[in-house]
Amino acid sequence: MRIYVSNAEGIAKAASHSLIAQIDKKPDSVLGLATGTSPIMLYNEIVKEYLEGNVNFKRITSFNLDEYVGLSGDHEQSYRKFMEKHFFNRINIEISNTHIPNGEAENPDEECERYEELIRKAGGIDWQLLGIGLNGHIGFNEPGDSLIAVTHMVRLKEETRSANAKHFNSREEVPTHAMTVGMASILKAKKIIVIAMGREKAHIVQQTIMGPITTKLPASFLQIHPDVTFFLDTESAMLLPRRLVIA
Ligand code: GLP
Repeated sequence: MRIYVSNAEGIAKAASHSLIAQIDKKPDSVLGLATGTSPIMLYNEIVKEYLEGNVNFKRITSFNLDEYVGLSGDHEQSYRKFMEKHFFNRINIEISNTHIPNGEAENPDEECERYEELIRKAGGIDWQLLGIGLNGHIGFNEPGDSLIAVTHMVRLKEETRSANAKHFNSREEVPTHAMTVGMASILKAKKIIVIAMGREKAHIVQQTIMGPITTKLPASFLQIHPDVTFFLDTESAMLLPRRLVIA
């Protein structure tokens, strides 16, 4: 595990270099992508690099981590819309190579099976981007007595609905369910990049990195992954001992 600490701009630059290096090495990489506030600066930075001709997405395939059940891809708060706005529509990725669970699928369980199979057929994820939820979730793998390995439908915790209400007009509008890539599918990614920012993430970041590995904090399972790098700002890293930190 590597831990890189900088300001928001430094994190975005360093994480974008990781992605560019990945695509240089393997131009047809399979990327695992994330939504949330944390990756926005990274997406902006990568778009800048793209516009300068430093990276090409022509042969890239992507799989997003999750989607709300019940929202169409056109809904302002759907993760499909988020990805189009912040990333896909600003680079030369083929939209048909971008995958996000279909929030409007008639049968979400079948949709999850289909999605899992698509990831498998693509050969798994080469480079996986993650944020961390305030309760330690990754994707929408919520804390609990057990975790599910594969893509599945999940009932969102009330704390997650509250945390994500800032993106909707009211808390009631936040969907109660989502589809998420499962823990095994995430942990099978060859390389994992985690971005967390802000004082409110400091405790969960410390527990993720230094606490026990437990289903009560899904992100703690990242401790067993052989190639994970945390990109943290000074606030989210404030509870970590200095000896762990790279820069
Ligand atoms: C959502 C997403 C997660 C994301 C989390 C944190 O719940 N499903 O994938 O990591 O939000 O988001 P933020 O970066 O806005 O704190």
